[in-house]
Amino acid sequence: MVISQAGQSESAQRYPVVCIDGPSGAGKGTVTWRLAKALGYQLLDSGALYRIVGLKAHEAGLLDTDEAIDENALLTLTQSLHIEFEPNQRSGRVDIIVNGEGVGEQVRNETVGGYASKIAIYPQVRQALLKLQQDMATRSGLVADGRDMGTVVFPDADVKVFLTASAEARAQRRVTQLMDAGQTADFDEILATIKARDERDENREAAPSKPATDALVIDSSALDANSVYEQVKAYCQSQGICFNTQ
Ligand code: C5P
Repeated sequence: MVISQAGQSESAQRYPVVCIDGPSGAGKGTVTWRLAKALGYQLLDSGALYRIVGLKAHEAGLLDTDEAIDENALLTLTQSLHIEFEPNQRSGRVDIIVNGEGVGEQVRNETVGGYASKIAIYPQVRQALLKLQQDMATRSGLVADGRDMGTVVFPDADVKVFLTASAEARAQRRVTQLMDAGQTADFDEILATIKARDERDENREAAPSKPATDALVIDSSALDANSVYEQVKAYCQSQGICFNTQ
């Protein structure tokens, strides 16, 4: 797999890295986007990498089993993907281009999130993605969103934040989001899906989702997106990250 972002050139210089880890629905995406924009850094949406691999594995029929997935086939598939991120100002997240084609919003849904968490337990897949993620920090400053950014991918990061919220608060946000988009939403069903994904992500052996020992943990259950952003921004500043543009 090759991952790249248009218009960046490589150098050996070390650039600042800000890690925002935590479970889905805790508000990482919004904070990451705003920070990357304010700082002029690249954005690494590591969840998108796992989502793409999960989606492609599903399409290839590799997930159609109750037993362990064929890890070698999964690795070959992962290595065959060329993934690019392009910031999309309108949506406030990155567009994902795989082997030259946009994958669209389908990759963001909860079903694909489930596929992602199934393939994310396999160490060879994680290993195949590791260097590519680390390479992104050799091109410019980076804000990295994920589960293991601060623990495994960027253990020496300048800033580590673990953003969490109760499963109920996250499910309620998802319900509101779906209803705002004119879709139907079942709170209990969404809550159960969120809990199942948390359980897999937190209890897997390879790079489980957990705060780094030196991470600032923020519980966003009772906070709005703006207060979360302001807290994270103030923490970044306290760690020496310079916001020139705001
Ligand atoms: O963050 P997002 O919801 O897009 O992530 C989808 C899934 O990908 C997660 O539930 C997790 O299983 C996996 N993931 C991971 N490590 C990361 C990012 C995501 O294992 N750094």
